[in-house]
Order: sequence, then structure tokens, then C-alpha cells
Amino acid sequence: MSDSPQTRQHLHRLIDALADGDLDPAKRAIESLRPANPSENALSEILERNSYDTDKSEYYLRNYERKFAHLRERPIALLEVGVHRGGSLYLWRDYFSRGTIVGFDLHPPASFSDESGRIRIFPCDQGNAPGIRAAARSASPDGFDIIIDDASHMGTLTAITFQTLFYDHLRPGGFYAIEDWGTGYWDRWPDGGAPLMVAAPHFSNQGKRFPSHDLGMVGFVKQLLDEGALADVFHPRFGGPPTRKCWIRDIQVNPGLVIVEKASV
Ligand SMILES: C[S@@+](CC[C@H](N)C(=O)[O-])C[C@H]1O[C@@H](n2cnc3c(N)ncnc32)[C@H](O)[C@@H]1O
Repeated sequence: MSDSPQTRQHLHRLIDALADGDLDPAKRAIESLRPANPSENALSEILERNSYDTDKSEYYLRNYERKFAHLRERPIALLEVGVHRGGSLYLWRDYFSRGTIVGFDLHPPASFSDESGRIRIFPCDQGNAPGIRAAARSASPDGFDIIIDDASHMGTLTAITFQTLFYDHLRPGGFYAIEDWGTGYWDRWPDGGAPLMVAAPHFSNQGKRFPSHDLGMVGFVKQLLDEGALADVFHPRFGGPPTRKCWIRDIQVNPGLVIVEKASV
């Protein structure tokens, strides 16, 4: 939501109406705060219309749209790591009509064309930190507004990519998405495995400890939660001495999809 004088005026009206217990003006004030173009299906509509070759589910697209809608008309830079045949790059190109779209892949598609000239693909191994750093610098020297990791879905490689790109190549206030983190629960996935689950929900502890499944991507996502909790880790009264700044403003954890928002300053 923008912080314009008009928005502030609507907010004051809403607070006054709620204080008076008058719900109709309150409802009208809430309506006026909605964004002008609230379409939450634009990504799915673009995908359906063009049949682009991507396996992104409608559920992922809806979550992306909720996070990215305010950036749609801006000249953003988006990086997707793991592009397969490039179908999702077309989707991002069409959605962000002024955006620069970059793809990294271990095996870039042999034939790929883009008449807009706004998409570029780089050969890149997500486990090679110097390689991805160099490619990121060359593709967008001022950093990216959005980074999406849909590559190997392996914990160690995903962690290397995050550590390399999130701090130094994602702009303040930007978004970093990690797709398909549920592979860590899969017995047949190279670094995954079936979690110990009992018949009914049971949040068991061992004294102060609440041990949990920590294989592959699942373990990495749980480490991300610790990183996002640095305000308490370094709490001035209860925590340890601060050794670094917390760059995570928000973490949205959905089944299969994590979206991390970077702090602004
Ligand atoms: C699930 S596909 C990407 C799908 C695409 N993002 C889409 O939505 O259509 C995974 C891609 O990751 C790439 N990949 C796998 N391991 C990789 C690695 N270590 N570094 C970079 N890319 C990798 C594969 O070549 C493949 O193209």
C-alpha cells in the first residue's frame, strides 16, 4: 500500500469510523484502500493464454502475484535460477512489461528466442559461488529486485546460491523465492528422506528441545527461520551480543514455496 497523503486520509477516515462504531463508512474506507487493479490471476491468465512450457502451479502463481503485484509496472530486474526450456522466463517477461529477465541454468536451453530482447540466459552451476557471483554482476550490476531458485532442489546447492545472491545481489526490499523445498521429505530424493510422523498431530519435545526433520531443503528452510529471528538471537536484554545485521524482513513459508523479503536498510 502506498504511503500517499490520499492513503493516509483514507486510513484516518477508517480509524474515525471504527472509533464511532459506524461500520458502513468503515467498509467504504477499506474498499477505497484496495489497489486500483486487484487482479490476482494475471500470471495464470498469461500462462493459460500462451501455453508457456513451465510447471509452475496455479498455487505458486497466486502466491507470487500477492507479493509482486505492486512491482508489475516497474522496470524491475528478475533472476530465475533453473529455467529448463525457458517457459517461466516468458511468463515473467509478459507480466513485468518493463522488466529485465535473467535466467541461470547448468544446461541452458539449446534453442531459445525472445523477440523483446529483455530476456538473457547464462550458463551457470548454482553450486559454484564465484560463477554465480560473476554472472549476477554481469547480468545486472545494480542487483535484482526478485530472485527465484527453481534449480536443483538440493539443500547444499540451494544454500550456496542463497548465501551468494541474497546478501550481495538482491536489492534492499527485494524478494527471494525458493521453490519445491518439500523435496527434503521425499525418501527417493537424493538428499531427502521420510520424516518420522505419528498417526495424530503431536508436537513432541525432549526437555527444552523440539527436534524436527532436517534433511535437505527442509533443513535449509528451517535454518532460514533462525536467520530471520536474529532480532531475538541478538535481543538487547535476553540474547547474545550482535555479530551481524538481520537482512530478513519477512519469511512466507507455504507448502512447497518459501518467499523471503529482504530488509530495506
Ligand atoms: C524444474 S526445472 C526449472 C523449471 C523452470 N523454472 C520453469 O518454471 O519452467 C530445473 C532446472 O534446473 C536446472 N539445474 C539443475 N541443477 C542445477 C544446478 N546445479 N545449477 C543450475 N541449474 C541447475 C536444470 O537444468 C533444469 O533446467
